[in-house]
Amino acid sequence: SQAASALQQVSRPNSYSEDEYAKVDWDNLGFGITPADYMYTMKCSSDGKFERGQLAPYGNVELSPSAAVLNYGQGLYEGTKAYRTEDGRLLLFRLDQNATRMKMGADRMCMACPSIYQIIDAVKQTALANKRWTPPRGKGTLYIRPLLMGSGPILGLAPAPEYTFLIYASPVGNYFKEGLKPLNLYVEDEFHRATRGGAGSVKSITNYAPVLKAMARAKSRGFSDVLYLDSANKKNLEEVSSCNIFLVKGNIISTPATSGTILAGVTRRSIIEIALDHGYQVEERAIPLDELMDADEVFCTGTAVGVAPVGTITYQDRRVEYNVREESVSQKLYSILEGIKTGVIEDKKGWTIEI
Ligand code: COI
Repeated sequence: SQAASALQQVSRPNSYSEDEYAKVDWDNLGFGITPADYMYTMKCSSDGKFERGQLAPYGNVELSPSAAVLNYGQGLYEGTKAYRTEDGRLLLFRLDQNATRMKMGADRMCMACPSIYQIIDAVKQTALANKRWTPPRGKGTLYIRPLLMGSGPILGLAPAPEYTFLIYASPVGNYFKEGLKPLNLYVEDEFHRATRGGAGSVKSITNYAPVLKAMARAKSRGFSDVLYLDSANKKNLEEVSSCNIFLVKGNIISTPATSGTILAGVTRRSIIEIALDHGYQVEERAIPLDELMDADEVFCTGTAVGVAPVGTITYQDRRVEYNVREESVSQKLYSILEGIKTGVIEDKKGWTIEI
């Protein structure tokens, strides 16, 4: 397939710094922007074909004030990471999944989109050009952010006449300021993240600003983030602002099914596959809030977040505390996933590529 052949090939950028590591305080990385040297840009022509993508120094982009992305939110993003192996090599993880998701999102948002091959090739080029910004193993990762936007000018509501695909990168550490400590989640029962028939299942930029209000309110009360409920009945779990959610009860691991309102996370999928390989039963289904209150263990997954244990969940005036053990299911699955991503555990699934 297109994705498989793109995963095999690497096109190397013409020039990039050979210095082994950039000057970064690797011990104090959070999830802030520290721009890596190069960004990648590719525009589509009027027939919707993308060509002549190139790397250039990271910098501001110029947009028409009437660009569709600025006026009507016609934009998508992706998130993926480059990982260092112990001996300093660079691995990328399941890029075909990100590329396929961007294609699906572009279809939902009526946008022209680069091919899966082009997306994968562009991410590889960007990662390679910014290799020295990838933290040493154990200190963090290089977060790579592909964007697709309606960059052409438009006034009436319609798909943009031109699209721009852009990728930048930044070294990152832990997503949450809690670091690796268990999260305290607040169940939001006023605002919703997505509705049936909306764009909740794709990585549209329009899914993210609307969660800020609930998130800011929860953070001001000392919570780490917000857990959303389904908008139809306010009964079933959806996801957290920036990650998916899982429950563990005995040998059964459950997570909300991706039935249209939930983002099909790459980490979500990978944890499901690893859990199945290790003898757990995995259920993707509707999960009523009550089950959460009765779970042995709860954890979140995402590219940025990784696998984060949940310590408490608060819903209205009820608060549940989970017994977060060192030997938890989430910790076990996470170390396997991290092992594969960093080349410590043999990748029998063909998930990683070295560049
Ligand atoms: C990611 O996990 O890569 C995301 O895109 C979530 C984002 C809010 C950082």
